[in-house]
Amino acid sequence: MFDIKITGTGSYLPKKVLTNFDLEKMVDTSDEWITTRTGIKERHIASEDEATSDLASKAAEEAFEMAGVSARDIDAVMVATITPDTLFPATACWVQKKLGVKPVVPAFDISAACSGYLYGLILSAGMIKTGVASKILLCASETLSKITNWDDRSTCVLFGDGAGCAVIEKSDCDSGLLSYVWGADGKLGKLLIQEAGGSRMPATKETVDKKLHTVSMQGNEVYKHAVTKMKKAAIESLKKANLTGEDVDVYVPHQANIRIIEATIKRAGIPMDKTVVTIDKTGNMSAATIPVGIDWAVRDGRLNRGDILLSTAFGGGFTWGAAVLRW
Ligand SMILES: CC(C)(COP(=O)(O)OP(=O)(O)OC[C@H]1O[C@@H](n2cnc3c(N)ncnc32)[C@H](O)[C@@H]1OP(=O)(O)O)[C@@H](O)C(=O)NCCC(=O)NCCS
Repeated sequence: MFDIKITGTGSYLPKKVLTNFDLEKMVDTSDEWITTRTGIKERHIASEDEATSDLASKAAEEAFEMAGVSARDIDAVMVATITPDTLFPATACWVQKKLGVKPVVPAFDISAACSGYLYGLILSAGMIKTGVASKILLCASETLSKITNWDDRSTCVLFGDGAGCAVIEKSDCDSGLLSYVWGADGKLGKLLIQEAGGSRMPATKETVDKKLHTVSMQGNEVYKHAVTKMKKAAIESLKKANLTGEDVDVYVPHQANIRIIEATIKRAGIPMDKTVVTIDKTGNMSAATIPVGIDWAVRDGRLNRGDILLSTAFGGGFTWGAAVLRW
């Protein structure tokens, strides 16, 4: 048990909405295919001048307001993202600057794709438990539209942009992180990858012409691993907390495909009416999906103090994770 409390949550989605019907005009696809295969109806797209730190900062301001803290109180900033403003400095440093967080606190990014928020939550719990930090701003923010190949119908219909944040502090009640599971398997990295732009394949005219700086994915293979790992992580984390699917008050899974969510809850014994689904409105926002789902559930009254919250994620790397929290 880690005595932590999420005292504030916030989220932000860019104004522009891209519907399945808009995509029908861009690639050979249909609303019917996208809806039945993925559950997605629309997604939000950042404007040209909106970067990942801009989305994160807006979500963070909401989280500060709910937590009743100011930027000056924060003593560590983390941003989970695979679409950083710049490869360096870290997006967390840009967020620190934008929000006015004290220039003496650590700020760094977490690169764990869709599992980034849960990795950040587990790290935050450890940092608070060991006294390394006492008021952490954890953001998960993505502008996947900027690394999407808009000519590839098998991927461009899946992703969306958005950000979700949390202020995490030491608990003053019985809330806490009851258990967690996290892991990674680099052998499978190539199944979901942005190949160019790093030191393995630096950006050249050729890589740009071939669109190698965009997301490439073997969807079928990723799907199989996602179902297996999300289910296993859900069951293992509940077991570690001496709980079962029936004890879960709110389940916020990563939102990559409604069929992955349905398969996970069936096998983990979690009812659909306890499961937060945002994918129809947001698409897959990688690391941002879980904190956006949590924020919506807090604000619409589905997630309340004392509730058991389960969250699970799976993503590029491959990485995965699960966390059981008493809210
Ligand atoms: C991507 C995904 C939705 C594809 O669904 P699928 O049912 O596996 O579909 P397939 O890839 O087998 O493609 C089936 C057919 O639909 C076609 N298709 C692919 N995208 C399409 C689209 N947007 N519109 C219409 N047809 C499409 C394919 O070309 C294929 O046609 P073919 O049979 O003539 O070759 C699914 O595999 C998935 O969700 N994967 C995991 C995604 C994920 O979790 N990603 C990130 C981890 S966080």
